[in-house]
Amino acid sequence: MKSIVVLGTQWGDEGKGKIVDFLSEEADIIVRFQGGHNAGHTLVIDGKTYKLSILPSGIIRKNKISIIGNGVVLDPWTLLDEIKKIKDCGIDVTNENLKISNSAPLILPIHSLIDNARETQRGNKKIGTTGRGIGPAYEDKVARRAIRVADLNDKVLLKEKIHKIVDHHNIWLKALNFEIVEPEKIYNQLLKISHSILEYSEDTWLLLEDFKQKNKKILFEGAQGTMLDIDHGTYPYVTSSSTVAGQAANGSGFGFKSIDSIIGITKAYTTRVGSGPFPTEQANLIGTKLGKLGAEFGTVTGRKRRCGWFDAVMVKQALKISGVTSIALTKLDVLDTFESLSICTSYKVGDKIIKYFPSDEKTQNMILPLYEKMEGWEKTTVGTSNFQNLPNKAISYIRRLEELIECPIDIVSTSPERKDTILLKYLFS
Ligand code: GDP
Ligand code: IMO
Ligand code: MG
Repeated sequence: MKSIVVLGTQWGDEGKGKIVDFLSEEADIIVRFQGGHNAGHTLVIDGKTYKLSILPSGIIRKNKISIIGNGVVLDPWTLLDEIKKIKDCGIDVTNENLKISNSAPLILPIHSLIDNARETQRGNKKIGTTGRGIGPAYEDKVARRAIRVADLNDKVLLKEKIHKIVDHHNIWLKALNFEIVEPEKIYNQLLKISHSILEYSEDTWLLLEDFKQKNKKILFEGAQGTMLDIDHGTYPYVTSSSTVAGQAANGSGFGFKSIDSIIGITKAYTTRVGSGPFPTEQANLIGTKLGKLGAEFGTVTGRKRRCGWFDAVMVKQALKISGVTSIALTKLDVLDTFESLSICTSYKVGDKIIKYFPSDEKTQNMILPLYEKMEGWEKTTVGTSNFQNLPNKAISYIRRLEELIECPIDIVSTSPERKDTILLKYLFS
């Protein structure tokens, strides 16, 4: 197995960063292919915590190449800040181990301004975005007016493009009495950093093609999760990128037939940050306990994550949509002290029982989850290195999830630490 896609199967924050870091021991190249700095990926290595939002999680390891692909929307200032922070932790970041696609569209200060202005305008119908300008930046990309990394090479063209994009948005900002933006200011801000960004830029699809020819092991790191996907998620309460497996190919320029396996990262329960439907949400003491034990606070915005039981209907759907071949089940330890556990196995909508997540908002809001109960194991699983040493009831929970979602669980994670990970199957073979 030479190329693996890792993606979230719920509403993000499943522990993708931890698993990508774990798997990147074997990988040569780690590629981000969508999203932007709305992502927050946490790695804990020998007690030291690293929080990454735009750099691929492989950056922490020596002798690996990290690529930011064309499918990412890149805030260049955030990237430079993150590079500095990571360097301050003693990690090497050079143009040898970090490459940025020439075709990645930039997130400009005007994008976060618009993002927040739109949220204000939505009143009590807010999406609960991260406010990072992700949606507006993707809109500009499909509207064909984005500034891309390679545009930083040509000052004259850059100036022209910035005026075009800012003039376009100022009409709307002005009409709604929001503060308008000065194009020259953005131009000058970009000029100051363009050299530092261009240092890393390349036609990264070409690099990937070369690595493929050399039989290198490539890991594609997804951000967000399937239920936040622009097409397959809980629209409109979603992010603005495609978060499913096919995007690994599109967002990097890697032929999709060369992808060998797809690992879905799945939390042993469910969380969501931001607004939108969440059938198994426990807005009660159970949810509070899950949130407390799982330290469920957003890495990017610090917001409290909503918590609930495992939703097998939703996860199974996510796996089918992406063609997931293996699961990494994370945060099993968070369930260690529960006397009993519930798993959602189907939905009741009106007088119908359904086994899929409906696509229209109205029906989504009518879902009543139907649960199956299992006994909790009430023993610690933290740091268990061998699957057979897990409590029997924890093994039964894992086996039942596998049956319900119709996919093998090949990795089990029992703490935030890199080393507390049980590998049941060698995935790069
Ligand atoms: P990502 O966005 O999918 O990379 O996930 P985040 O990093 O935003 O959130 C997952 C959180 O859970 C992080 O704080 C991780 O350190 C932590 N985490 C990951 N795996 C485990 C696990 O198995 N057990 C526990 N208790 N925490 C975990
Ligand atoms: P990682 O990679 C969890 C959510 C936001 C909001 C919606 C739209 O860490 O799993 P956006 O700023 O993208 O326009 O916000 O998507 N969201 C995430 N939730 N984890 C993430 O990333 C997320 N990235 C965006 O909370 O509901
Ligand atoms: Mg996260």
